Amino acid sequence: MSDIVFLNGSYLKKHEANVSILDRGFLFGDGVYEVIPVYHQTPFRLKEHLDRLNQSLSSINIEPPFNENEWLTHINEIITNYTDKHLSIYIQITRGVSELRDHLASTQKPTVLIMPSPLTIKFSELKPINAILLEDIRWQHCDIKSISLLGNILLKQEALSQNADEALLHRNNLLTEGATSNIFLVKNNQVFTPPKSPFILSGITRDVIIEIAQQYQITIIEKELTVSELYDADEVWVSSSSREISPVTQINDKIVGQGGIGAISKVMHSAFQQFKQSLLDSPR
Ligand SMILES: Cc1ncc(COP(=O)(O)O)c(C=O)c1O
Repeated sequence: MSDIVFLNGSYLKKHEANVSILDRGFLFGDGVYEVIPVYHQTPFRLKEHLDRLNQSLSSINIEPPFNENEWLTHINEIITNYTDKHLSIYIQITRGVSELRDHLASTQKPTVLIMPSPLTIKFSELKPINAILLEDIRWQHCDIKSISLLGNILLKQEALSQNADEALLHRNNLLTEGATSNIFLVKNNQVFTPPKSPFILSGITRDVIIEIAQQYQITIIEKELTVSELYDADEVWVSSSSREISPVTQINDKIVGQGGIGAISKVMHSAFQQFKQSLLDSPR
């Protein structure tokens, strides 16, 4: 059996799971989400993902529908029904169904979806990508993992139309993040990433990278970075739960550094793989 989803208390086949047209997620994009990678049937950084989900919910005044154990029960049910042992778990919570399409209409209870999908990249793959630089046109609460992703989608479409895999974003010349990722750059063997702020999503992968870098005597400095620092970087990579660490080898027409995947990107990628493995090897 595969592709079973959890919707509002029931386990259903994906194509048989339906939501009302009066759901505020459908009408207004009024909801939040999470994407949790699962390796060898084990959710990666589950607690951190659930903490961020609770933060997103609290920011939009929705009560968490489940505690950590309840989430784990439902997520494990989805995982065991899925055909592949590596997957991605998508959680979406909307404010629920209202009587009318009205901005302020009240709802009885949130709509909760847990849906599995394949991981975007192959397990442990290190794949270079190219990017373009764009003005960050999104709203001012990018720290909330909102399902209203129109800004991100327009940016991603623009990247695709220019044959790029990702859009790197700046606000008034300061780098924020990628349209679907956080950004790191390397200059003279030092690694930098923009600080947490309402203008970026606090990436779970970003935090893991900062944490494990210390074990390799690599310090990651969180500071504001300009567009010219990006173009001047020796190495650039983006991070996300779906792509882990993806080296960016070209930005617009400019080759990054010496071209190819840089040494620190390789070290960090292999450190990340080892970290994943160590969690799977340790008793749970
Ligand atoms: C805009 C944005 N920033 C950053 C990230 C990376 O976050 P995480 O590492 O938690 O997946 C994502 C992931 O989807 C994202 O969409």
